[in-house]
Amino acid sequence: MIDFKEIIANAISNVLQLDVNEIKMSIEKPKGADNGDYAYPCFRLAKTLKKSPQMIAEEIKGKIDLDKNQIIKVETVGGYVNFFVNKELLAKEVISEISSQQQYGSSKIGNGKNIVIDYSAPNIAKQFHIGHLRSTVIGAALYNIYKYLGYNVTGINHLGDYGTQFGKLIEGYKLWGDEYDIDSNPIDELNKIYIRINQACKEDEQILENCRNNFKKLEDGDPYCLELWNKFKDLSLKEFQKVYDILGSKFDSWNGEAFYSDKMPEVIEILEKSGKLTESQGARIIDLEDKGINTPCIIEKSNGSTTYATRDLAAIMYRARNYDFDKALYVTSYEQVLHFKQVFEVAKLLGLDEKYTNGLEHISFGMVLLPTGKMSTREGTSVKLNDLLDEAISRAKAIIEQKNPDLQNKEDVAKKVGVGAVIFNDLFNSRVKDEIFDWDTMLNFQGETGPYVQYTYVRTKSVIEKAGGVPNILDVDPKLLQDEYSIRLFKLIYGFEDILLQVTDKNEPSILSRYLIDLAKTYSNFYNENKIILDDKSLQNARVFLTYAVGQVLKNGAELLGMQMPEKM
Ligand code: ARG
Repeated sequence: MIDFKEIIANAISNVLQLDVNEIKMSIEKPKGADNGDYAYPCFRLAKTLKKSPQMIAEEIKGKIDLDKNQIIKVETVGGYVNFFVNKELLAKEVISEISSQQQYGSSKIGNGKNIVIDYSAPNIAKQFHIGHLRSTVIGAALYNIYKYLGYNVTGINHLGDYGTQFGKLIEGYKLWGDEYDIDSNPIDELNKIYIRINQACKEDEQILENCRNNFKKLEDGDPYCLELWNKFKDLSLKEFQKVYDILGSKFDSWNGEAFYSDKMPEVIEILEKSGKLTESQGARIIDLEDKGINTPCIIEKSNGSTTYATRDLAAIMYRARNYDFDKALYVTSYEQVLHFKQVFEVAKLLGLDEKYTNGLEHISFGMVLLPTGKMSTREGTSVKLNDLLDEAISRAKAIIEQKNPDLQNKEDVAKKVGVGAVIFNDLFNSRVKDEIFDWDTMLNFQGETGPYVQYTYVRTKSVIEKAGGVPNILDVDPKLLQDEYSIRLFKLIYGFEDILLQVTDKNEPSILSRYLIDLAKTYSNFYNENKIILDDKSLQNARVFLTYAVGQVLKNGAELLGMQMPEKM
């Protein structure tokens, strides 16, 4: 497709003798159609050029050389130069691109770059909680979008299958194992043991000490501890898989924390050699005070066992060597901000190429607030995730039953709608915000929701069906699509790839979710303003084709977010 922004940037650069990319980056989208399609602000240049922004804008307007067939008008407003794109050409471009490309909006921009995404990562023997759902959903959306843009992506489920909690569980199991029916209801029962042993630890220092020692034994390969650990792990994974099956989650690697147990000695050795590893109250730590981080990073606890941080350091070395990553993203809640600050800082001592340490990024997100407030496994108030997803599906089913009782494949549609609603809700607000989990809001077919996006897509499908199919592109005349809403739709569709680039730039899937809502709303306006099925077949063809284009982008976009689209609902 013609890159209008690039064309404008080149022309400005010829006038100002400035770097094209810099100009391209400062080109904005003006507010309101009166100000054109692209705007170049001249304010920052005023100082260097020693002229007022208005004068610079006028000068650019006077000297700029653009193809009138592409950019039909250039105007200045204050310190801005505004550019007006030829809308017919825009429509033509979008139409031919949509019809020629299966994966509209995909790109090769990421070719040759490796991205590692560490997401989901629930903890063995604990409930897969709603924070892990958020990590799973955000991580998967980023995974899909990077891939669509041509990156080589590796998705890793860094399972929490190691750590002192296993020492606790083993102790609890030893003490009361026969009171619990672990095999038939593993996570619930293990959870009960976990809560009970935590309580016992609070009351009895000796029990806490035993727990710590159990974990040490596990690290040293004690057969009994290992056997129990394996049992907990197998049973838990079976449970987690239920959630992954509903969501359709896949991972390229399931290397969890335990995978790094034999890779930590190297880390410790390197840190020792760096001279930064110091002793503090029997533990070995890296002090990060001079890096502006007040809490030291604990590398080895006083009883000699390793930590979550040490395993993450070993994982960084392993991933650098095996995936040669350009970026390594860690998707967890903001509760782990300090952890990743520490780990990324200590990683600089590992002797890795700067490429790797610069590529580490924590993609943090807010809490999920249920009507009952924040949830924590330790207090045992968490909801079971597969129950929650099942509830989403049955609520969606009830709505469908009421709105469209004769629909075929109701089960399948309810699944797509219910799960889609949860996924979209997770991705709609900027990720740092706490998310409110409210059934009525997320399942509202007219709200800013997943079901609304799906519903709009289904509507495009039924329009096409009524028209007897997608018209041949040779029968589509862009001149007939120059009304306000058609133009808005073309502009949105044209900008799809740019939206995906923005998502990867900020690792913020909500940019895409919001875009899809914008597109769906604009299509509803178009639909209300314009009759589509008409006697005038050339007008009908044009409008049906635009409808088809909207449907394609809604589908591609929603699938990138991890949703599935029903064809009818
Ligand atoms: N299992 C951890 C938790 O539930 C998340 C792990 C995130 N990934 C990592 N490499 N630390 O909090």
